[in-house]
Amino acid sequence: MKKDKIKIGILGFGVVGTGTYRVLTENFEAIKKQVGAEIVVEKILMRDMSKKRLIDVPDRMVTTKPEDILENSDIDIVVELMGGEEPAYSYIMRALENGKHVVTANKELMAKKGSSILEKADNNGLSFGFEASVCGGIPIIRAFKRSLCTDKVKRIMGIVNGTTNYILTKMTQEGSGYEDVLKEAQAKGYAEADPTADVEGYDAAYKMAILSSIGFHTKLDINMIRREGISGVSKSDILYGKDLGWTIKLLGIAQEIDGKLEVAVSPVMLPAEHPLASVNGVNNAVFVNSEAVGELMFYGPGAGQMATGNSVASDIMEIARQIVLDNKTLPNCSCFDVKAFAEEPESSFYLRLDVINRPGVLAKIAGVFGNYGVSLESVLQKKTEGERAEIVWITSKVKESSFKKAIEFIKYMDVVNEVSSIIRVEANGHC
Ligand SMILES: NC(=O)c1ccc[n+]([C@@H]2O[C@H](COP(=O)([O-])OP(=O)(O)OC[C@H]3O[C@@H](n4cnc5c(N)ncnc54)[C@H](OP(=O)(O)O)[C@@H]3O)[C@@H](O)[C@H]2O)c1
Repeated sequence: MKKDKIKIGILGFGVVGTGTYRVLTENFEAIKKQVGAEIVVEKILMRDMSKKRLIDVPDRMVTTKPEDILENSDIDIVVELMGGEEPAYSYIMRALENGKHVVTANKELMAKKGSSILEKADNNGLSFGFEASVCGGIPIIRAFKRSLCTDKVKRIMGIVNGTTNYILTKMTQEGSGYEDVLKEAQAKGYAEADPTADVEGYDAAYKMAILSSIGFHTKLDINMIRREGISGVSKSDILYGKDLGWTIKLLGIAQEIDGKLEVAVSPVMLPAEHPLASVNGVNNAVFVNSEAVGELMFYGPGAGQMATGNSVASDIMEIARQIVLDNKTLPNCSCFDVKAFAEEPESSFYLRLDVINRPGVLAKIAGVFGNYGVSLESVLQKKTEGERAEIVWITSKVKESSFKKAIEFIKYMDVVNEVSSIIRVEANGHC
């Protein structure tokens, strides 16, 4: 008999849990018409019943016992919105073992254990939604899985972390220093009290792992992603970037070249006219280059109660529809290959050096680059203060290993006071 109620259990009732509940209840009638059945929140797992929540829910819905959801035969879909690796992983696996479809927003878990989770769901003939795990409100996973699935993705570039984009935007637009903007972002709730996961690029690496896995149909080890945060970006770098016609963004860049993957998260000097350069504040964007379609950009809020709640709710609705129509589930895992990572990635670099202000210094340093096979595109010398001078070099596209060896040598030269900063340069940003 056709089901007229699809019952869900929510694990965790924080920002996204509340947003999901609100979308499902505030849009209840419209969702019911589209699904052909009611989506009913049956139970919500909370850790602490006495804690003041963002919204009130009926007492009968609330529980502190995970088994009230995971072992509840009435519940069709389990929605994990607690975050972190454990107990989220164990709860999800238990739900799948008990024949429940699952939806999550947990990027860390999907980046680290996504393939084993999806395999379990596939083996058990269950659906698994994780739209909200990348870029909050932007429907990017659905775009990859449903639309770009027939195309060949060549490159994915993403501003996938709102906190760092807010900080870099403020530094660029107001000329403020990194520490000052970080404090302001923390006061406004855009950055956590411990900002490490955002500013050091971990959060962006999780999201790029998920996007790369879907985009290039491969399982991948998150530890192979080269990761660098924005804490080393200074006001000087932003100003030099402006002079050169570039904007600094924390970018995730993933590409497949000759069957090998390159995935990196780092601050990047991007041409000011590139569409990603004008993505400002806490917003996210993903720029995709694929063989058949060409260039595409997805833009919008990368976080937030209602935006992220909508992505979770849309996964719930899609699964609910499948249940009502008694459709077989589609395979969840599209990561059928295990592609190797490139051993010798290449990039152009911006390098800022503090050197001794003396004739012949530039030639000496250029000679070292030459010895390591690093060719140079340009050099700028704008600032001299008595004995010291600041110089900026831009390299051609070079092997990263050669550049790093040259830097190891340059660092200890008697004419060099300090290697002040190194930032990757994305010369054109288009394939
Ligand atoms: N916030 C966003 O905009 C956003 C965007 C995209 C994805 N996400 C992802 O969505 C997930 C949830 O994020 P959030 O921002 O909603 O976090 P949050 O506001 O901290 O909410 C998490 C909730 O889970 C509860 N919880 C944690 N461990 C629990 C346990 N063992 N048992 C029961 N409840 C538990 C917490 O309870 P207490 O209140 O007792 O601590 C809290 O209410 C995370 O995976 C996050 O990465 C968030």
